Amino acid sequence: MTPDEMKKLVAQAALEYTKGHAVLGIGTGSTVNHLIDFLADVKGDIEGAVSSSVMTTERLKKVGIPVLDLNDTGPLEVYIDGADEVNPHFQMLKGGGGALTREKIIGAASRQFICIADESKAVDVLGKFPLPVEVIPMSRSYVARELVKLGGQPVWRENVVTDNGNVILDVHNLTILNPKEMEQTINNIPGVITNGLFAWRPADVVLLGGPNGVRKLE
Ligand code: 5RP
Repeated sequence: MTPDEMKKLVAQAALEYTKGHAVLGIGTGSTVNHLIDFLADVKGDIEGAVSSSVMTTERLKKVGIPVLDLNDTGPLEVYIDGADEVNPHFQMLKGGGGALTREKIIGAASRQFICIADESKAVDVLGKFPLPVEVIPMSRSYVARELVKLGGQPVWRENVVTDNGNVILDVHNLTILNPKEMEQTINNIPGVITNGLFAWRPADVVLLGGPNGVRKLE
């Protein structure tokens, strides 16, 4: 089974969590793209979705699902998104697709966070995947120097501008033994919008797709 087939499998399993909810929060990435394709078949039950990126917005619109503003919907019942890494405490490292800030906002505004991923994303310790940090453009070099002090090696994701008009530093070589502390420390650096650690608001349910089916952790 290819990683993409595992993503498709887990995306299909996530449909269960959309039932009975007229408004959904929808993340970003290749796993979520499969979910959107499945949602196209049940769109009659969906009033609309709050989208975490321009990419997701376009895909939702393409399949005929109205995109709603989080300011108008109020709190959401469910948010479904992928991850680059997820640890046994359901804390995640996200932002490989650069949508981390809006993902974090919608995750925070949702009662249930469903993480969908292929099983290769399950790790014991976060940090092997470079940690994305979204920063205000003028702060890029300053923030990079501060990240070096924390033991990381930041690399500017060149030619990428986020949906919010900012830039991304991918921080390599971090072994994140205390994700909550690291999330807070990085977010305290002036110029940082947010970083890709989802430790203070972990997932509530993790669905992992693999060759033997979908494993549900909750
Ligand atoms: C985007 C993300 C994605 O959820 C993460 O990168 C996983 O993506 P994929 O489903 O393509 O493996 O955080 O910002």
